[in-house]
Amino acid sequence: MKILILGSGGREHALSWAISKSPLCKKLFCIPGNAGIKDVAECIDININNFNSIKQFIKKEKIDFVIVGPEDPLVNGIVDKLNKIKIKAFGPNKKASILESSKSFTKDFCKKHNIPTAEYKKFKNFTNAISYIQKIKYPIVIKASGLAAGKGVFIVKKKLEAEKVLKNLMLKKNLGNSGKEVVIEDYLEGEEISCLSLVDGKNYIPLLLSQDHKKIYEKDKGPNTGGMGAYCPLPYLKKNITNKIKKEIIEPTIKALDKEKIYFNGILYAGLMLVKEKIYLIEYNVRFGDPECQPLIFLLKSDLLKILINCVNKKLNKTIIKWKKEYALTVVMVNKGYPGKYKKNNIIKNLNLIKEDMNTKIFHSGTSLDTKNNIIATGGRVLSVTSKNKNFNIAKKKVYEVVRRLKWKNSFFRKDIGYRAKKLK
Ligand code: AMP
Ligand code: GLY
Repeated sequence: MKILILGSGGREHALSWAISKSPLCKKLFCIPGNAGIKDVAECIDININNFNSIKQFIKKEKIDFVIVGPEDPLVNGIVDKLNKIKIKAFGPNKKASILESSKSFTKDFCKKHNIPTAEYKKFKNFTNAISYIQKIKYPIVIKASGLAAGKGVFIVKKKLEAEKVLKNLMLKKNLGNSGKEVVIEDYLEGEEISCLSLVDGKNYIPLLLSQDHKKIYEKDKGPNTGGMGAYCPLPYLKKNITNKIKKEIIEPTIKALDKEKIYFNGILYAGLMLVKEKIYLIEYNVRFGDPECQPLIFLLKSDLLKILINCVNKKLNKTIIKWKKEYALTVVMVNKGYPGKYKKNNIIKNLNLIKEDMNTKIFHSGTSLDTKNNIIATGGRVLSVTSKNKNFNIAKKKVYEVVRRLKWKNSFFRKDIGYRAKKLK
């Protein structure tokens, strides 16, 4: 089969890497890809939101199957458009993608269908939002309802700070239309867990549970990012929690989707907060998480392409997913300054010193090649250094050895990825 992957992050590098090894894959393309993906796929320089050019390319190359990585094209309905021209594609349709594109929709959906989530109010009117925050208990969480690449959520401790956030979102429109409507919700203190499941409309298969690290600084301080590191499975988690997540969150969500006549086929990412054994839904995403995807794919034993095709063909009830019985951990190296402003295009020199093997792999995000074929850092998140081992602490140690050997000067990374693992006991 001829396969096309859309996207350019560490997630898409991990997906390309696994798909390129599938016996079903005869030729792999990636639009637009990055300097790492080039090793396993032919990268094509087309804007991911330019559907007409993508369509022409698909027809010219006679692509059989498309895998959509990021949320934007999903929310813009790329899967519906591909299906219209009889191309099979992995990812939910536009209608189902609202679970990620509107936090306001998701909160109402949870409330209506008794899916546990933090108490909330939503506002389109600035004056009403301001008057609401005068009389509530802090901390609170203010969220832009629309897509914001992980930058639209603010944990706020004081009234003055809340006023500033609301002004920025609703009056100054710092996040454009995404902040036109805001959700203000109770702050939940607990442990975050990511539960990604494959869903084919009716059947679902949960993947290994993982944990992301959203804040830029150690001990979860500073602003939110797209994710600074992740690991899976969760080594100390009590066994009953997985069942609780299935019964209290995933199954009710799938039933609710059915009731609302929303056909969901793809990855349902449930971002969860575990508060003293009670589980709350924080957010849904409609795609693989980045960086969660990197350690997950690194532990996958089964043929990823076959699994994704089975999902699109509604055959998850006949699909078994096998995992390597190890732990995988990813540390994300970012350009210094991210998630704010950062310098672009500096060379990452030592990548060739790192010997990649079955246990260690560097997935690329924001990288390109310059005119002299040097690998340069062009994005905020740049490298996902990933290792696996039967022992969680060894996996962690190995990742940091690689990170240090890279000696990439303009980078920043968190030194404590995995530190919360024991808190999940
Ligand atoms: P979201 O985009 O809704 O997943 O929010 C991004 C991050 O903000 C989450 O991963 C949490 O770390 C944090 N967060 C969101 N909502 C809450 C909440 N109600 N209580 C505590 N932290 C939250
Ligand atoms: N790692 C968080 C996300 O992909 O949204």
